Amino acid sequence: MKGSAMGLGSAEAVAAQGLLSPYVFGAFSMVALVALLAVTALLKVEPSRVVATVPAKVLVPEGPRADIKERTLRTDRWWLQPAMIVAALLAFIVYSTWRAFENAYYFAEPLISPFYSPCLATSCVAGTSVWTPFGSWWVLSPALLILIFPLGFRMTCYYYRKSYYRSFWLSPPACAVSEPHKKYTGETREPLILQNSHRYFFIAGLIFNVILTYDVLLALRNGEGEWGHLSVGTLVLAANATFLWLYSMSCHTCRHIMGGRIKNFSAHPVRYRFWTYVSKLNAHHPKFAWISLFGVALADLYVREVAAGTITNFYFF
Ligand code: FES
Repeated sequence: MKGSAMGLGSAEAVAAQGLLSPYVFGAFSMVALVALLAVTALLKVEPSRVVATVPAKVLVPEGPRADIKERTLRTDRWWLQPAMIVAALLAFIVYSTWRAFENAYYFAEPLISPFYSPCLATSCVAGTSVWTPFGSWWVLSPALLILIFPLGFRMTCYYYRKSYYRSFWLSPPACAVSEPHKKYTGETREPLILQNSHRYFFIAGLIFNVILTYDVLLALRNGEGEWGHLSVGTLVLAANATFLWLYSMSCHTCRHIMGGRIKNFSAHPVRYRFWTYVSKLNAHHPKFAWISLFGVALADLYVREVAAGTITNFYFF
C-alpha cells in the first residue's frame, strides 16, 4: 500500500527487477548486527592486556631506542580490530551510497527515512516536505542535499578519525605496531586541517537530531494521518533518534562546550554539572558511534522495506 502510494510499484515488481529481495535485506540486517556486535566487542580489548604479551624489557628500554627490525613483537591478533573496522565502515559506505542514489522508497506515511529527512526539493515524494528551498531545479536524489552534514560530522569525529587513520592508513595500525609511513605530519595542513571543522558539523548534527526527533512525533500517527498511534516504525525511528542524541551528547566537542575554557569549576556550577554528565557519556562515545551508525542504516532499511511493500508496519494501537 505504501509502495503504491509512492507510485513505485509492488514489492514483487521490484524484486523482479533485481533491486530488492527480502532475503537479501534480511541477510544484510543480520550481517550489520553481527558486525556491530563484533566491533563493539573488539573495542573492549584493552591495549594493556594485549601488550602484556610483549617482554617488559622492550616496553621500558634503558638507554638508546632498541634497534628492532621486526614490524612488531606482538603475538596476538592485533590486526583483527582494524580489519573489522574497515569491513564495518565499508559496509556502511556501500549501503548508504546506494540508498542515497536510489531516490526511492524513503517515505511510507507516516515514516520517513533518516537518509532523506528533511526533504528539501519539490521532487520529494508528496507528504515528506513542508519547505523546499531547492525548488524544482534540483533533479538528483534529495538525499544528496543533506547527507554531507551527518557525513561530515562522522568523518571529522575524533573517534572515527582514530579508527580510520589506524584501519585505512595504518597510521599506526595498532599499539606497538610500526606504521609504513616515513614521517608524521599530523593535522596541521590541508587537507587534514579541515578536521577542525568538527565543531561546526557538531552544530549541524544537533539540528538534524531535532528534525529526526520531530519525525518521531509525526510517526505517532497512522497511515491516514490520525494522531495517537504507535507502530514498530515509531519505535524504530525513536531508537534511531535516541542513539543519535547519545552520539552527539557524548561528543568531545560537546564536552568542551560544557566545560572548556574555564579556569575554575566552582565559579561555574551549572557548567560543571553538565560537564560531569557529558563526561560520563563521553567515556562511551565509541560505543555510541557504532550503535548510531548501524542504527541509522537499519532505520532507513526498515522504512525502505515498508515503503516497498515488503513488510507491513505493525501498529500496537
Ligand atoms: S568526537 Fe565524535 S562526534 Fe564529536
